[in-house]
Amino acid sequence: MTNNESNQIAGGNITAASRKDAHIDLALDPQTRSDGSNGFDRVNFEHCAMPEMALPHIDLSTEFLCKHLDAPIMIGAMTGGTPRAEAINRALAHVAQDQKIAFAIGSQRAALELGHSAGYLRDIAPDIPIIGNLGGIQLAAAGGLDLAKAAVDDVGADAIAIHLNPLQEAIQPEGEHDWRGVREAIAALVKADIAPVIVKEVGAGVSASIASDLFQCGVTAIDVAGFGGTNWARIEAARRDDDITLFSPFLNWGIATLDCLMSVTKACPDQLVIASGGLRDGLDAMRAYRLGAGMTSLAGPMLKQLLYDEKEPSPEALGKFVEQIKRQMALTLFLTGAADLAGLRKKPVWLDGQRI
Ligand SMILES: Cc1cc2nc3c(=O)[nH]c(=O)nc-3n(C[C@H](O)[C@H](O)[C@H](O)COP(=O)(O)O)c2cc1C
Repeated sequence: MTNNESNQIAGGNITAASRKDAHIDLALDPQTRSDGSNGFDRVNFEHCAMPEMALPHIDLSTEFLCKHLDAPIMIGAMTGGTPRAEAINRALAHVAQDQKIAFAIGSQRAALELGHSAGYLRDIAPDIPIIGNLGGIQLAAAGGLDLAKAAVDDVGADAIAIHLNPLQEAIQPEGEHDWRGVREAIAALVKADIAPVIVKEVGAGVSASIASDLFQCGVTAIDVAGFGGTNWARIEAARRDDDITLFSPFLNWGIATLDCLMSVTKACPDQLVIASGGLRDGLDAMRAYRLGAGMTSLAGPMLKQLLYDEKEPSPEALGKFVEQIKRQMALTLFLTGAADLAGLRKKPVWLDGQRI
């Protein structure tokens, strides 16, 4: 694993903004992906040999945060706060608006602290849900509630996502190690009624007990962001220039996305659960939807498509990728004999050889 020193700035200080740029490069490095499965290869749909429907008539449309979407897909929270991140976010917002899918922006802390507005994203994407983002640690700090209000107001967000990332912070060279007060801060944010609150992990997963507790606090949705895709333990270990032996046992730490999804939907029936963490394509997304997810999200794979030539963002390449995901979703419905998403939920699947 290579150490990346690009986050060092004069005087040795490391800002949240420069860290975000280093994260973009490291997230694209195949060596920082999880060395383990999201679990979705254990799930197989029962093939329907006589679908009795026309593939082009399949309807993937859905509602999310009171807005109409062409398909239950979201561009997962990634970045913001630096000129490079802004160029990426502009391109992501264009694709999301064009494809009528949801768009989650990355942590707004750096941008807000630098006094940079991301309000242009709402101009680019007026019709789709935009989800703001802050860390649980920042929310729990002094002034956290005001920061959350500023984050929502800045982009006219339809919801705010609070990310929980204790594994990442524990390995991050400049990470936060005191997690006291985060639950209370989330409960206060819900109570303040600024916007619907989504709580997410970043790739290590949300367990059923944490999800139940947070739904009891009144959060609108949990994004499980499980293990199997982008791996923040590996990304942060790659940013360290000291011996990482201490962290080696934790480089594959986390709950596989399938296991999070199954346990959270069982413990919290009728709640909105977002599946993410290592989803690769439209088939994975439909497996997740069948197993109870109300929305699906991809982050790292979207970034990889957008930056495929590593020079400047290519909305065309990402647009084609999203189009392909939608077609894979439609093909899944067709091959199970489901005309729409509600129909898919009733179709049999095999999990570990058991028909459910
Ligand atoms: C470059 C990059 C930056 C990210 N930054 C954030 C962030 O600021 N806030 C957040 O909640 N999640 C962030 N994430 C985590 C993603 O939203 C997602 O939970 C995680 O990458 C797992 O999904 P994936 O396997 O599809 O990438 C980031 C992911 C990537 C790839």
